[in-house]
Parts: sequence; structure tokens; C-alpha cells
Amino acid sequence: GTPIVIAIDGPSGSGKSSTSRGVASALGYDYLDTGAMYRAMTWALLQRGVDVEDADAVAVAADDVSIRVGTDPQAPTIQADGTDVAGPIRQDEVTTAVSPVSAVPHVRELLVRAQREVIATSSGAGRGIVVEGRDIGTVVAPDAPLKVYLVADTAARAARRAAELGGVDASLTEASLTRRDTIDSTRTASPLVQADDAVVVDSTHLTLDEVIEHIVGLARERS
Ligand code: C5P
Repeated sequence: GTPIVIAIDGPSGSGKSSTSRGVASALGYDYLDTGAMYRAMTWALLQRGVDVEDADAVAVAADDVSIRVGTDPQAPTIQADGTDVAGPIRQDEVTTAVSPVSAVPHVRELLVRAQREVIATSSGAGRGIVVEGRDIGTVVAPDAPLKVYLVADTAARAARRAAELGGVDASLTEASLTRRDTIDSTRTASPLVQADDAVVVDSTHLTLDEVIEHIVGLARERS
């Protein structure tokens, strides 16, 4: 079929990254992790000593940050100011600061523009792309032919994230996920919300392969 844009949104820890990479690999599509871009921006601001709770300071400093992102689903890359930040952006310091940074409208303006350029490059070259985030189906790519809203029970999300992090206490992970969800869902600038035309996929009782297979099936119907 024709290569399409697939938007995958949902709360933290619903399995978006593994799912999106799996779907992109199965279809031979590009992959864009927009969360990694917000994390890379946050890393660069922390590097500069910017107070992430100061929205004005964040907006001013953000103009000066350059983010580069690779779109190979087998080997995604992310750089901030020319530094490979794939490791550091997963650290607690960044995870704690990323939601307030992402709530600043000017940050979203800059990153949404960059994300649309990546999508245009893939589409222009005749390649499909799977884009994961919080506002892909609503703001970044509202015309995407397939929008998935991926959800899972909070306890399942926390258990998964704790396992990923290597045996940390799931109740702490749950508190951290819930805090991010609250900030992400209640902010004024493009909050996390399900698009009207999104297909809801609940991964709580499905394996990763089952979720991937289900979404690949939906993509084949629409491409
Ligand atoms: O997906 P991930 O958990 O890496 O995203 C980190 C944070 O980046 C989210 O908690 C959210 O604050 C922000 N984000 C966003 N919009 C997106 C993707 C991520 O605001 N499209």
C-alpha cells in the first residue's frame, strides 16, 4: 500500500516506544520519538543551568538549543547541541524536569516545527513514518490516516517501567508516571488528549507482539 503517517499517542509507560519501533520495523517505516526531543531540550536547558520552573527563562534559552534526531527504528539517535544524549535523557533529573519544560508554549512551537520537518522529509522521500508522543494525532499530524491512542492500567505501566529500570520499586515509578500524566494532561498548550478519530488500544492484557500485530493490521487496512 501507500506509505502513511501513523500517530501513536498515550500516557507515560503505556508501551509507546517499543510498540512504535516494532510497528515501524515491521512496515519498513521511519520512526520519530518526539518524547526524546522534549527530553533532549530539557537536558540542554539543565546543562545551561536554566531554572525549568521559570517558563520565561525556558522560552528564551530554548531558542538557542539545537536538536537532531535520527529516524531508524532499529537504531534511533538523539543529539542536543551536537552531543549524543541518548543515555542522559533517560536519567531521573531529566525525567523530573521534562514535563514543566514541555508545558512551555514556545518550546512546543519549536519542536512541533522540527517534527513536521522530519515527517515531511520521510513523506517526501516516499517513506511512511511512525510518530510517537502526546499530541501527534491532535497537533503535529492531525491528518495522519492512522491514529492510535495507546493506554494501559497504571499498575501495569508502573510495573513495566520498573522492570525496564532494573528492579526499582514499582510504587515509586507509579508516583512518577502519575505526576507526569497529570502535568501532561492538564497543561494549556496541547495537552495529552485522545484525538476524536483515534483508535484506542489497551495494552494491559496484551503482549508487545500482539499490540504491534494489531496496529500493523490497522495500518495495512488504511495504506
Ligand atoms: O514519551 P516520553 O515519556 O519520553 O516523553 C517525555 C515527556 O515529554 C512527556 O512526559 C511529556 O511531558 C513530553 N512530551 C510532550 N509531547 C510529546 C512527547 C513528549 O509534551 N509529543
